[in-house]
Amino acid sequence: MASNILKFLIILSSIFLSAANSLQTPAISTAFSKSHLSSIKSFCKSTPFPDSCFHSLKLSLSITISPTTLAFVLQTLKSAISESLKLSVLISDAGNSNLIEKQKGTVQDCKELHQITLSSLKKSISRVVSSPDSRKLADARTFLSAALTNRITCLEGLNSAAGSLKPTLISSLSSAYEHVSNSLSMLSKPNSPSGGGARRRLLGYDPPWRILEDNEYDPRDVVTVAADGSGNFTAISDAVNFAPNNNGSDVTWITGNRSVADGWTTFRSATVAVSGQGFLARGISFENTAGPEKHQAVALRINADFSALYKCVILGFQDSLYVHSFRQFFRECDIFGTIDYIFGNAAAIFQGCSIISRKPLPGQYTVITAQSRDNPDENTGISLQNCSILATDDLYANSDVVRSYLGRPWRNYSRTVVLESYIDKFIEPDGWTQWDGDQGLDTLYYGEYENFGPGSDTSERVSWGGYRVMDYNDASNFTVSEFIAGDEWLTYTSFPFDDGV
Ligand SMILES: *[C@@H]1O[C@H](CO)[C@@H](O)[C@H](O)[C@H]1NC(C)=O
Ligand SMILES: *[C@@H]1O[C@H](CO)[C@@H](O)[C@H](O)[C@H]1NC(C)=O
Ligand SMILES: *[C@@H]1O[C@H](CO)[C@@H](O)[C@H](O)[C@H]1NC(C)=O
Ligand SMILES: *[C@@H]1O[C@H](CO)[C@@H](O)[C@H](O)[C@H]1NC(C)=O
Ligand SMILES: *[C@@H]1O[C@H](CO)[C@@H](O)[C@H](O)[C@H]1NC(C)=O
Ligand SMILES: *[C@@H]1O[C@H](CO)[C@@H](O)[C@H](O)[C@H]1NC(C)=O
Repeated sequence: MASNILKFLIILSSIFLSAANSLQTPAISTAFSKSHLSSIKSFCKSTPFPDSCFHSLKLSLSITISPTTLAFVLQTLKSAISESLKLSVLISDAGNSNLIEKQKGTVQDCKELHQITLSSLKKSISRVVSSPDSRKLADARTFLSAALTNRITCLEGLNSAAGSLKPTLISSLSSAYEHVSNSLSMLSKPNSPSGGGARRRLLGYDPPWRILEDNEYDPRDVVTVAADGSGNFTAISDAVNFAPNNNGSDVTWITGNRSVADGWTTFRSATVAVSGQGFLARGISFENTAGPEKHQAVALRINADFSALYKCVILGFQDSLYVHSFRQFFRECDIFGTIDYIFGNAAAIFQGCSIISRKPLPGQYTVITAQSRDNPDENTGISLQNCSILATDDLYANSDVVRSYLGRPWRNYSRTVVLESYIDKFIEPDGWTQWDGDQGLDTLYYGEYENFGPGSDTSERVSWGGYRVMDYNDASNFTVSEFIAGDEWLTYTSFPFDDGV
């Protein structure tokens, strides 16, 4: 009986609300009826976490009034935010004795990443809420993919941590991010609002470009370019003119030597770390000198949307360049390393770059990429286009004993493509290698399209379910406009780029 009264009140108030907002009310008559609940249930069945989905949607008025996919997405995002706010409280209390980190930076990483997640969730709502077109929905997918990547990066550090808060934190992370996975899945279905449709839309806002640096550097050596006047210059060209000696990558050289072996998290080992939005760098070298025996040691880590680098050099050994999350573009850059030296879960395109493998420690092999997509709905991956895949002289000289590969799957849905690139002889005929047994080999996506050079022959490549020689249509999904919406934002950077294949 009590529940009948409650139903009655809710139906009344939804009628009142809908009248007040002059909304269409086709669903009112079925509000909270069995068929309404069962249609929610069946909708939720297609999401990764049906129970969380159902709990989040069943009491929503807006869904009762207007049961559209977008209303479902919005309500799920709201649940994600409210769970994430609870998690924020927990994380801000972490430290001292309740969470003992084994790797320096674990707690700080989780705090920073979680802040980025919250802002990504809010931005996703803003993209979905009002007349979304396919580009706004692609933005939302980017933000949610980044949020899921943040969760995994936080968990990586927590794995080795101890303390009474650890289990609570891990379970709160799981429940908050179930709603994030669900939202992303709803946006990614073939028949969802983001499938197909017009692709072209001019940006309604100017990206706030700025060059950011790690705060460890002497601020007097840092030149910040910000369109809003908060930096030293408002235009990149002014900054370049101001620094006539800083016009080549030999000149501006930023170096460091943090590493996992010395106790840092991979995330925090970066010599330069960039988060935020709109990072531009031109003619700068980023280096980590820790050396191959120190394992993971990042030279440059980027988790900033709309990042573009032009004529930069990234130098390291294992894990040189951490393309952590969001959309990134590299043009005519030189990237050096030994193992997994381009890794992470951004949507990253490299054009006209030299990718140069260095000789590893005895007994090791070299691998260029370790892309870490872990969910088929994430719109992330690494696309190497018109690049030269080369080795240093000492690696060439040893290429009969040191094996070298294009990539290996850090996580199950790892996605890497090599398009129209020169592949030199040192790459093994099978091309790609495993991470851990046969894990991910059928679910990953590794593709090659119209490469050339003595290492480009695909006739002896791996025979995994996820590997393919791509055709034009496949390759078209990984271009500047399709993969990172770069036809819009890259034009603001003054950096050259090529669209299409
Ligand atoms: C840029 O601005 C910062 C902060 O105002 C200042 O400390 C720094 O000296 C400036 N850099 C140059 C090269 O003028
Ligand atoms: C750097 O600037 C000097 C003088 O302005 C110029 O001669 C030189 O070609 C520039 N180097 C690069 C790499 O742009
Ligand atoms: C690592 O870098 C720090 C700071 O730049 C420096 O003091 C130290 O000597 C470096 N260590 C090694 C082994 O290069
Ligand atoms: C390929 O990259 C080179 C720089 O390495 C550039 O000069 C050339 O224009 C690019 N070609 C195409 C077709 O993108
Ligand atoms: C990855 O895939 C393997 C099967 O290849 C599966 O056993 C494993 O549970 C998956 N891992 C995750 C995190 O989903
Ligand atoms: C490329 O995009 C089309 C249309 O979205 C899709 O059907 C196809 O599966 C995609 N191919 C790859 C390789 O992602």
